[in-house]
Amino acid sequence: MRFVTAWRHGSPDVLCVEERPVPEPEPGGVVVEVKAAGLNLMDTYVRRGMHAGPWVGDPPLSFGVDGAGVVAAAGEGAIAKPGDRVAWVGVAGSYADTVAVPNDVLVPVPEGVSFEAAAGGLMQGMTAQYLTYVGVPVPEGAAVVVHSAGSGVGRMVTQLAARRGGRVIATVSRAHKAAAARQAGAWQVLVRDETGDLGAAIRELAGGSGADIAFDGTGKTLFDVSVSVLRVGGIFVTYGYAGGEIPPISLLHQPHGVHLVRIRPNGPEQTAAQWRERAGQVMGWIKDGSLDVLIDRTYPLEDAASAHRDLESQDTVGKLLLIP
Ligand SMILES: NC(=O)c1ccc[n+]([C@@H]2O[C@H](COP(=O)([O-])OP(=O)(O)OC[C@H]3O[C@@H](n4cnc5c(N)ncnc54)[C@H](OP(=O)(O)O)[C@@H]3O)[C@@H](O)[C@H]2O)c1
Repeated sequence: MRFVTAWRHGSPDVLCVEERPVPEPEPGGVVVEVKAAGLNLMDTYVRRGMHAGPWVGDPPLSFGVDGAGVVAAAGEGAIAKPGDRVAWVGVAGSYADTVAVPNDVLVPVPEGVSFEAAAGGLMQGMTAQYLTYVGVPVPEGAAVVVHSAGSGVGRMVTQLAARRGGRVIATVSRAHKAAAARQAGAWQVLVRDETGDLGAAIRELAGGSGADIAFDGTGKTLFDVSVSVLRVGGIFVTYGYAGGEIPPISLLHQPHGVHLVRIRPNGPEQTAAQWRERAGQVMGWIKDGSLDVLIDRTYPLEDAASAHRDLESQDTVGKLLLIP
């Protein structure tokens, strides 16, 4: 099988494709022929050696955690059989043409949903579902700020916050991303490159005494803006650090009455049954068209380095995929 790896941390140039033995199916799991593997900004953290998550060890590195494909072989007690179309989240080494997937993170891909849509929508859709339905449920009519609303998680959060009746005030860094945010259901879109005082622009749109919720995956880039636009009792939600980690803060210097919340989607309190139920719900939304999956670019495994460069350029919209 072909597998993307790196023998040291560094620039995208460290990525290479190697031949590995095809895995045998484990009890309670399957081996899948990968049809589409997702790219996530997190993969670039793994490559650079700056991510200390459960999927990272010392080189040689494994990349990718989500994808979709066809079951090639099933172990004893597997919940899928050869030929079934499936998708998964949380399997290190998904940048490959074959991957072993345990039952706990496996979900069927319904008829009518393409492998690209399944691989492109499941992980970031579930992240957004957790943020807007479980972590900080968006109330009807709330003024909700969503940054990076043309890209991966941000675009999904925009769709789901709007679906719950929120008025989404979206921001994107560059003008060419505005259409993707609008198409996702944003009520208003602000292009940060073209907006002098972003905080003032958001406050004016939010009206009243400020926004109710700010979903922010940019980390340090927009932290100060996000907390400054919230009303008393408003909630700042951090779920990522695309622009770098938020440095240590002094609560003394934070605005009055604002709640600061870190949400780790797929948190430890979640059982496998709950995960599968949420995964099924997201797949259902993809199937009925109520969750739109935007695939910006696709690449063969051999071009994983180009894909990482594009992801880090901050230029892409929607999701990027590797097609083995
Ligand atoms: N993928 C998931 O399911 C998931 C789950 C939990 C946490 N996260 C975290 O959430 C953050 C965003 O992930 P994602 O999957 O949405 O990524 P993505 O699809 O690659 O989107 C990243 C977006 O972040 C914004 N950004 C701001 N500063 C950036 C920088 N310095 N470099 C690159 N992008 C920058 C860009 O949008 P603008 O230019 O419009 O700002 C960019 O398009 C990451 O920190 C990730 O680790 C993701």
